[in-house]
Amino acid sequence: MPRRPTAPDSRRPAAAPRRPSRGPNGPGRPAAKASAPPRTRGVRGAATARPARAEEAPAPKKRAPAPPDDRPGAMRLQKLLSAAGIASRRTAEALISEGRVTVNGVVMDTLGAKAVPEVDDVRVDDRRVKAAGRQRYILLNKPRGYVTTRQDPEGRRTVMDLLGGVREYVYPVGRLDYDTEGLLLLTSDGDLAAKLTHPRHEVARVYEAIVMGDPSDDALDELRRGIFLDGRRTAEAGITRGTTVGKGRDHTTKIVLTLREGRNRQVREMCARIGHPVRTLQRVRMGPLSLRGLPTGHWRDLSAAEVASLRAATK
Ligand code: URA
Repeated sequence: MPRRPTAPDSRRPAAAPRRPSRGPNGPGRPAAKASAPPRTRGVRGAATARPARAEEAPAPKKRAPAPPDDRPGAMRLQKLLSAAGIASRRTAEALISEGRVTVNGVVMDTLGAKAVPEVDDVRVDDRRVKAAGRQRYILLNKPRGYVTTRQDPEGRRTVMDLLGGVREYVYPVGRLDYDTEGLLLLTSDGDLAAKLTHPRHEVARVYEAIVMGDPSDDALDELRRGIFLDGRRTAEAGITRGTTVGKGRDHTTKIVLTLREGRNRQVREMCARIGHPVRTLQRVRMGPLSLRGLPTGHWRDLSAAEVASLRAATK
């Protein structure tokens, strides 16, 4: 039998006090409380999943293997759930594997299972999932000092604190470190997010790093060709030297790096490896998107043309 809706998750840490955050499109108006998003919308983790719409469900009767489903419009459940803004694909897969998803009253706990949105009665924890509506695509100029996640177990400020007024379940596409600033895309479109982060499609990300010292041409060549991080060579990178400022031990140099892969702390690790640690780091471009005109801490919706060009960049 599937699980019934559970009591509030006792594993969730108590919400930590947060500083007043910036409102819609930047400072000024209060942001939505990221520590307590509405329980009727979205899923923050498999253990606390709640779907978008509540309706009484018929009690599911039996488990079934994923039946072949070649009906027009049939899509895999994890894709359907993420497109509906219920969860990221990975979390949706966990919900399915945990037996919390039913289609027309039958538990579907295999990852190949499909359903047709608008036709099938898809539920998570007995609550009806509404078919995907309009997707949301948000470009944020992330300041330093924010964690790139929907919720931080340590209670630190997250990028969600900067998105006052955004009611859709959006989540970050990739990650910027706590101390990295710059361009961050957040979306409810699980399909596009998956493509943008898939190694096969990864679009170019451009970073401006201020590094300690003045790297030699040979050192920059090493970065261009790729260096071994965790036993794997980094992909070829575009590297441009900027200006060097300051004197003596405190001088720094600007380097512009264009990467087509997104490993953990990649820019910081690469620069540290050649002996020039990063002092500050900013992402300034992602595929066709740039930060132009968007002050730090502010966000805006992408235009339809920008969404189309992002999609084209993943083809
Ligand atoms: N590389 C890093 O080192 N940090 C980031 O936040 C992004 C890329």
